[in-house]
Amino acid sequence: MSTTTISTSTSQRKKVTTLAFRQKKERGEAIAMLTAYDYPTAMAMDRAGIDSILVGDSLAMVALGYENTLPVTMDEMLHHARAVSRGAKSALLVGDMPFMSYQISTEEAVRNAGRFLQQGGMDAVKLEGGRERADAVRAIISAGIPVMGHIGLTPQSVHQLGGFRAQGKTAAAAKRLLEDAKILEDAGAFSLVLESVPARLAEFISKQISIPTIGIGAGAGCDGQVLVTNDLLGLFDRFTPKFVKQYANFHAEMNKAFAEYIDDVETKKFPAVEHTVEMSDDEWNEFVK
Ligand code: KIV
Repeated sequence: MSTTTISTSTSQRKKVTTLAFRQKKERGEAIAMLTAYDYPTAMAMDRAGIDSILVGDSLAMVALGYENTLPVTMDEMLHHARAVSRGAKSALLVGDMPFMSYQISTEEAVRNAGRFLQQGGMDAVKLEGGRERADAVRAIISAGIPVMGHIGLTPQSVHQLGGFRAQGKTAAAAKRLLEDAKILEDAGAFSLVLESVPARLAEFISKQISIPTIGIGAGAGCDGQVLVTNDLLGLFDRFTPKFVKQYANFHAEMNKAFAEYIDDVETKKFPAVEHTVEMSDDEWNEFVK
């Protein structure tokens, strides 16, 4: 990480840093973040000029087919983190710490956060939770690893929350979220994801803290936005959350392409001459004589 500003140019972009995140907030410029789990997707969004890529534990649901994010392991996260880091050279890369990789002890939290940088090619890590994670956040940061917080709907606590439900909808819950945001800021987090909280609360929190907030289902008053890329591309067929704007329907496109391919094979339209390797007549005659 070498520079302090975010370039929007698609070629020769400078590396985006955590400091650049802060500077964007100070300048009132929105931060654009997306998830990625593989090399070609990471490369495409890096070339498009994305500020930051999250190798999210949403991997579990949208790419590995699990019911929720709980089953994904550190080794699986690192496997995908490495692929993303090979594809994206400019975006700030954030590795999402999976369930049980940081809850047991601060030592394990530091060790696993370190693996994201050493073995996964990430620049920073993200973990879920508020005040109960302050010690882990402090310990990881004291090891020199930038941490992004995540409060509101925290999918790893789906069973405790009683489902994927919006958070912070009562005055008491909103007050607690604001306190958590300040605690994470004081603990040294460089940024904070606010997921599925009322827009007016997210805007209020964003104005109360100096670190950039990144919203998902939290309205336009956040300092930046993140979406799960498979939702944005229409690649995840199980459900689309209300807060997702779908920019493409890749699932339908894939179905169409696969059906055409099957038809071409069955009707022998594929492979055509242009897809075929030739052999000279001389060599052929030598072969068959
Ligand atoms: O795992 C993920 O993709 C996330 C985002 C929804 C913020 O945590």
